This record gives sequence, structure tokens and C-alpha cells, in this order.
Amino acid sequence: MSVIQVQGLCPLNGRIRIQGSKNAVLPMMAAALLCRDVTVLHHVPDIADVRIMADILRHLGCLVNWRQGRMEIDASDLTRTEIPREYVGKMRSSCLLLGPLLAREGEAVTSYPGGCVIGKRPIDFHIHALERLGASFREQNGTIAARARKLFGTWILFPYPSVGATENALLAAVLADGTTVLLNCAMEPEIEELCRLLTAMGARIKGIGGPELVVEGVPELHSCEFTPAGDRICAGTYLAAAVISRGDVVVAGVRPGELLEPLKTMERMGAAVSVREKEKEIRVQMKKRPSPVFLETGPYPRFPTDLQPVFLAAACTCRGESRIRETVFEARFAAADEMKRFGARIRTDRDTVHVKGRWPLGSASVRAPDLRGGAALVLAGMAAEGISGIEDCGHIERGYEDLCRDLSLLGAKIWMERESLAGS
Ligand code: UD1
Repeated sequence: MSVIQVQGLCPLNGRIRIQGSKNAVLPMMAAALLCRDVTVLHHVPDIADVRIMADILRHLGCLVNWRQGRMEIDASDLTRTEIPREYVGKMRSSCLLLGPLLAREGEAVTSYPGGCVIGKRPIDFHIHALERLGASFREQNGTIAARARKLFGTWILFPYPSVGATENALLAAVLADGTTVLLNCAMEPEIEELCRLLTAMGARIKGIGGPELVVEGVPELHSCEFTPAGDRICAGTYLAAAVISRGDVVVAGVRPGELLEPLKTMERMGAAVSVREKEKEIRVQMKKRPSPVFLETGPYPRFPTDLQPVFLAAACTCRGESRIRETVFEARFAAADEMKRFGARIRTDRDTVHVKGRWPLGSASVRAPDLRGGAALVLAGMAAEGISGIEDCGHIERGYEDLCRDLSLLGAKIWMERESLAGS
């Protein structure tokens, strides 16, 4: 087991280039299955979730060549349509392969997806959308087998603007026979990015960026090269770290417009925020103890649920009482219990947490409950006197290339102790 050690109370200063977006790249890797040729992705982050997705694609018969951020996926010949349980257990996004496998091969077998343990996270919207397109599902002992002789254009109304379900439906509809209208779609930037990749592959999609997507099916897609955007959640994490540590941080390689709500929230907390849209840079300076946070998560363009744990860490250091309401996932306060170990005064009331801030926090030994919760605990450790340890940080490696490297670059005193060292 690896442990991240962090010494608190070091202000962050400097500039950092942000890794490619995890949530954009994973569906793009799934999209590569739709083309019987080579798809090239640039700026691919070297994170555990991408490694697992690459392994699944190899298992399905793709040739995946990945070096220095450039990933070449040759999906000319698929040899399997079954995603083994071991992979599904490790990564929820594997369910995004259902749509492309059905569209291309007419069948797909998977089990219930894993990933972060936040909320129930069912996949009923995915299944319903694919059924509307003509697939039939059989479920036995946790295994889901889907079949479709052919997919046909239809209309699909999502009960909630689910990111994954919108992506899965899109990935299936681009090769369906006829026109598909998707209603109440998620509008996260990663969906727009996926639409742009699919369009570059020859798909016909109208309404990109909006809640209604119209997909005119085409018989086949062709090879393309694509560079996804920088990771807005990663950028938001480092900017929140600037707020917590009272630092001055510039993140480069992200679109400021994708972080509007988090940036407005940081301003309300007392940070000076400046953006250079063309240069894709955001600067956050914080000189004092933050004012309390009042925020509510929601589907884009509302406040991203993925940054909620990180802002919870910031709330622990605020002057006064903060209130954070989570409306996307019902059990996404796992990090809150661990944060109490730093001496944070947190009370959870159903979907809302009330936090009475203090400064500094006290050092603690905690466990990362999930990916973003783990990063949030590292940030809480940066506000604590002394050295704190964050165990189970494998979760963090699912989404951050190297959190210790990046925060060290900005001046944090942070390091990883791998199993052998940690045990000695
Ligand atoms: C994606 C992101 C994740 C982010 C989330 C919300 C990726 C790889 N992951 O996850 O980082 O936190 O969007 O922005 O891009 N729901 C159902 N049935 C379904 C699908 C979803 O009830 O079939 C519910 C979920 O339980 C949740 C809500 O819908 O309450 C939103 O989930 P969804 O947008 O689908 O999240 P993910 O695609 O899993």
C-alpha cells in the first residue's frame, strides 16, 4: 500500500501545465472501436483508468500503441465482445464500450461496473437508451449480455442528464440506421469533445454542446487524429490548493469557460481570479483565510460534483460556517468523515454538509475513500500543521498522473512512500 505524506502550511506558487482530460479521453478510447482503422489520440494522460481501458481494448483485439501521450488504437480486427469482470470491477467507464460493441459487432457482454464507490451509480439509463435503439439485454448472476441484429434511429429521453448514458447512446447512434434524437442530454464539455471526435471520424451530429442532439447514422466511420482538452477537474484541484494554501498558482492548458462555477466560488471565497482565455490560462491568488463557501453541485454548467470534495477541504479552512449540497451522487461525502480526523468540524445532514472552518488543521493519518475524495484529503493535509499521511492513494492514481510531482512543482512538501518503505 502506498502512502502520500504531506507537510502542511507551505503556500503554493508557480505555473503548471495540466494533463489531458480523463473524462474526455475514456469515451474517446471507446469511440475508437467504431472505426475499422486507426484512431490517434494526443495528450493522453498516463493514469490508471486509461491504462485499464487500454488493456480492455487490447483484450477485445485492438492494437494499442501508447508513448509519451500519443495513443494509437488500431481496431481493424476485433476478436472478442466480452469485457472480463476483473476490468469492469476496476473501472466504471468500461460500460461505455457497450454502445460501440453493439453498433459494430451486434453483441456485448459485461458485468456491473465498478470505479469510485459514490452513490449507487446504476446503469439503467444506459441500458434503456440502447434498448430504444434496438438492443435486447439478458442479465444473469451479475453478467449483462446485449444483442442487436441492427440498431435503428429513434428518440431517447434521458430521465436525468447522465454523462455516461448520453455518451453511450451517442456511441451507438452514430452507426445506427436512420436518425436518433437524444433529449435532455448531459452538456458536460467532455460530451462536446466526444461529438467533435466522432464528427472528425465522419459522424453526423447536430446540436453539439446543447441538451438535444440529433444523430444521423452513417454506415461507417473513418480514421482520425484528435487532441482532447486539458483536465478541468485536475485544474480545479490545483487552483483550490492555491486557495487552501494561500498561494498564487497559474494553470495552463485548460479552457477557463469550463470552470466558470468553481472560479466564481473561489472569488466569493476571497481569491483573486484572472483568466487568459486565448492562452488557456487561469491564475488564482489567495492572500487571506477564505470566506465561507455555499455551493450546490449539479449537471454542467452547474458546479461539478467532481470538485465538491476538494471544495469541502477548502471549506474546512474557511472563516465561519460553510454549506455544501450534493445533488448528483447521493453518497459523495465519504471524504468528510476522514476530514474530521484533521480536526475539521463537519456535520452531514442527508445531501448537505455543514462545515465550521478552522485554521490551521491538525495533522492526521487518513484513507483515500475514492479518487476525488483522496485528492481532497491531500489538500486538507496541506492546511494542517505537521506531516499528514494519506493511505490507499491508489485511488488518486486513477485520475491524476502524479499528484505529488505536480504539487511539489508548485512548492508543496509532499512525497509518496511506496509499500516497502511505508512498511519499514
Ligand atoms: C461522469 C464522470 C464523473 C462525474 C459524473 C457527473 C466520467 C468517466 N465520469 O460519471 O467523473 O462525476 O459524470 O458529472 O466521465 N444515473 C442513474 N442511472 C444511470 C446513469 C446515471 O441513475 O444509468 C445517475 C447516477 O447515479 C447519478 C447521476 O445519474 O446520480 C449522474 O450520473 P452520470 O452523469 O451518469 O455519471 P457518470 O457518467 O457515471
